Amino acid sequence: MRKVEFIEVPSLVSARNRRDSSVTIKYNFNPTLKTLAYFKDKKFFIRTYGCQANIRDEEVMSGILTKLGMVKVYDEKLADVAILNTCAVRENAEDKVYGQIGDFKSIKAKNKNLILMICGCMIEQKHIIDKILDKFPFVDIMFGTHNIKDLVTLLNKYVDENKRYVYVSSEVGAIVEDLPSKRLESYRAYVNISYGCDKFCTYCIVPYTRGKERSRSKEEILKECKELVDKGYVEITLLGQNVDSYGKDLKDGTTFANLLDEVASLGMPRLRFLTSYPSDFKNEVIDVIAKHKNIMRYLHLPVQSGSNSILRAMNRRYTKEEYLDLVERIRTKIPEMAFSTDIIVGFPNESYEEFLETIDLAKKVHYTSAFTFIYSPRVGTPAAKIEDNVSYDEKVKRFKELVSEMEKDFIYFADQMVGKTYEVLVEEVSKKNKELLSGYTENLKVVHFKGDESMIGKLVKVKITENHLYSLIGELVNE
Ligand code: 5AD
Ligand code: SF4
Repeated sequence: MRKVEFIEVPSLVSARNRRDSSVTIKYNFNPTLKTLAYFKDKKFFIRTYGCQANIRDEEVMSGILTKLGMVKVYDEKLADVAILNTCAVRENAEDKVYGQIGDFKSIKAKNKNLILMICGCMIEQKHIIDKILDKFPFVDIMFGTHNIKDLVTLLNKYVDENKRYVYVSSEVGAIVEDLPSKRLESYRAYVNISYGCDKFCTYCIVPYTRGKERSRSKEEILKECKELVDKGYVEITLLGQNVDSYGKDLKDGTTFANLLDEVASLGMPRLRFLTSYPSDFKNEVIDVIAKHKNIMRYLHLPVQSGSNSILRAMNRRYTKEEYLDLVERIRTKIPEMAFSTDIIVGFPNESYEEFLETIDLAKKVHYTSAFTFIYSPRVGTPAAKIEDNVSYDEKVKRFKELVSEMEKDFIYFADQMVGKTYEVLVEEVSKKNKELLSGYTENLKVVHFKGDESMIGKLVKVKITENHLYSLIGELVNE
């Protein structure tokens, strides 16, 4: 058995500790000569699960490894370094990762020099680290979301001592600037505006895995966005677990509304942001969106539940009425806005009547799309300690009922689009039909149409001809 070196291990207690304030540091690229020689021209593979924050982390890790002289590959069997970048938000995300780690047993048997690393939100949890150390002896390195900056330090140690390493700092989290980055796409980019979350919704693991909420400086964000605009990027998404509280910790009066206004003024064709928190969403933001035509007319506004008692149990700090009032205020100023949301069905002890209130709210908002989930208990969160009297089968039944109710609105909205012409950002050749291209409108409806591959990454005009529930069919409009 190889020795395990625990450089730092996570602790829920210190992850909950929010007393320290965050610092901004510069990235320090520190490979030894031995590391540089070892990894030059070697191949790396990264598989990312979960949200956009993880996708952005993948780009940073790709940047660091590329700087080491490595080359990215898309087949794990060809890799010298493989990283699984994990998500902990629901149990099914974790189960997928265990399956993938298992698959590496035979890959490592064939390629003994492969370095297998696991990072991301799952690794922020001590019980998961213990399970991986025990069940998967071929996993070499585990590191946390705050330790991406330490990737090269870990590789230095690995080439020197060849032990197994665990490096997970449960801390407030620093803001690291000047991180290398190799973006996955050349026309669409994510830009972090803040990290972490201070909301502590009772079902959610994120405040423990990603640390205290901390905002990047407005100057750094504008610099990064300006570079992307200069490179010709078509769409930028500003990222934060709660974008609406951006700037609170900067204590210099900067708000999300100021930031959004200045970023939009840089003039990229499309700008959007994720994720909004209803009771932090300010009227000034509505005005800024109304003012800038390049801010997409699509708002992801997670509601989670339409029942005030469940919202309270979730520690969501708004009522159903306040949420509906916000939607109304936005619609009054921006009538064309499309709304999407996140909903959790089957929070512990949710009654059928409380569930029906969620359907009622959804029908009032007329969402154009939604991400719906069955509640999944997360170890260490307050909700996971609640004894639950609702069976899983009942939750599945409610989940299906909600989806079929919401689909009526999705169909209605998309039906209204038929016959009209929209600007579409072309993403790829359609996965289902190689003859077609796929892209999406500014209200995030997927459109398939005939076109040339050279259009990928560009905005084109498409007239919608048919509606197929989760996608539309259209034809190119020549200008
Ligand atoms: N169970 C189910 N869904 C969850 N989400 C977060 N935590 C859980 C959980 N424990 C959902 C929320 C959140 C989205 C990203 O994931 O709806 O908005
Ligand atoms: Fe989780 Fe709530 Fe923070 Fe979103 S706002 S990341 S759901 S704790």
